[in-house]
Amino acid sequence: MKIKKIVLISTLIVGLSPLCLGQNIKGSSHDFAQSKNAAYNSTGELCIVCHAPHGTDPTAVPLWNHHTTSQVFNTYIGYKFSLPGYGGSTITQPDGASKLCLSCHDGVSAMNQFGGMFQGPSGTPLPMTTNDRIGTDLTNDHPISFVYNTTLATTDGRLKDPATATTSLGGTIATDLLDINGKVQCPSCHEVHDPTIYRFGKISNAGSALCLTCHNK
Ligand code: HEC
Ligand code: HEC
Ligand code: HEC
Ligand code: HEC
Repeated sequence: MKIKKIVLISTLIVGLSPLCLGQNIKGSSHDFAQSKNAAYNSTGELCIVCHAPHGTDPTAVPLWNHHTTSQVFNTYIGYKFSLPGYGGSTITQPDGASKLCLSCHDGVSAMNQFGGMFQGPSGTPLPMTTNDRIGTDLTNDHPISFVYNTTLATTDGRLKDPATATTSLGGTIATDLLDINGKVQCPSCHEVHDPTIYRFGKISNAGSALCLTCHNK
């Protein structure tokens, strides 16, 4: 009986451990090797709709193999952003990785436009057709593509200092959540390759832990 219990418990632990360690992109809605995507991706490869090892877009990193959005977005206006001198954040058109996400999530760009010269397989352009469309109006979405630095934190007064405040991932906000230019982008909150946390979350938002990583409320 005891042995059975131990076996059962260890099976549970072994069985659950992949969840704790993080899954990968396979089987997620970003796995483009799934049969439902075969109509536009006949390569059987997962990554190719977004990345390739050669011949990618030299203006979009990393190794971007998808058409990049050419939409003009309505950017976040906000509460404090609109006050002159408030922290000095300037919201530009989406740049960096956010622009890559919006190359599908703008709801206009074709999902099936990838590969050599970003033409993709011939046929009808396929825009994203579901609720996961963020669209081109970003005025009702968390601001992205702006610098979040110590000056902004100090001026705002209710933001943690990204250079020193730590995250549950082990580094600082700046090293874990901001891009190379110190900007907040979609991947500040999302991990595009890992569906373990709800909605490709970078950090779980249970108890608003994600929000409280940066906001001192
Ligand atoms: C839905 C589009 C998409 C798919 C599919 C995808 N990636 Fe990415 N990948 C991105 C984006 C966007 C970034 C940049 C943002 C970031 O780092 O989170 C990135 C970043 C990366 C990076 C650099 C940063 C890091 O996380 O190490 C590597 C390496 C990478 N991807 C490899 C892969 C591989 C290998 C696959 C297939 C198994 C894959 N990606 C599938 C969109 C995708
Ligand atoms: C090549 C196109 C493509 C790119 C690039 C892309 N996505 Fe997606 N994403 C999809 C598709 C397709 C779905 C599933 C849509 C559906 O069926 O609702 C999806 C779903 C999602 C979902 C909801 C997932 C769920 O399981 O509920 C999130 C969150 C998401 N994407 C975030 C991102 C972020 C953040 C980036 C950039 C770092 C990104 N995506 C880049 C195509 C893309
Ligand atoms: C400040 C953090 C944050 C940023 C920045 C952010 N997201 Fe999200 N996103 C979330 C959270 C949290 C959820 C889950 C919301 C829920 O369903 O409770 C989410 C949900 C989503 C979903 C699923 C559909 C939905 O509306 O719930 C998509 C798709 C998505 N995000 C894409 C993006 C893209 C693309 C960007 C950049 C343009 C982005 N996100 C920037 C935090 C963020
Ligand atoms: C990576 C850090 C980070 C994360 C995570 C984050 N935020 Fe933010 N958020 C910011 C920064 C920086 C600003 C800009 C504040 C400023 O200009 O003073 C901001 C702005 C905002 C604003 C608008 C303030 C204004 O002036 O209009 C709201 C509301 C907000 N965040 C809520 C949230 C919520 C809710 C979450 C969790 C889903 C979240 N944030 C997650 C960094 C973050």
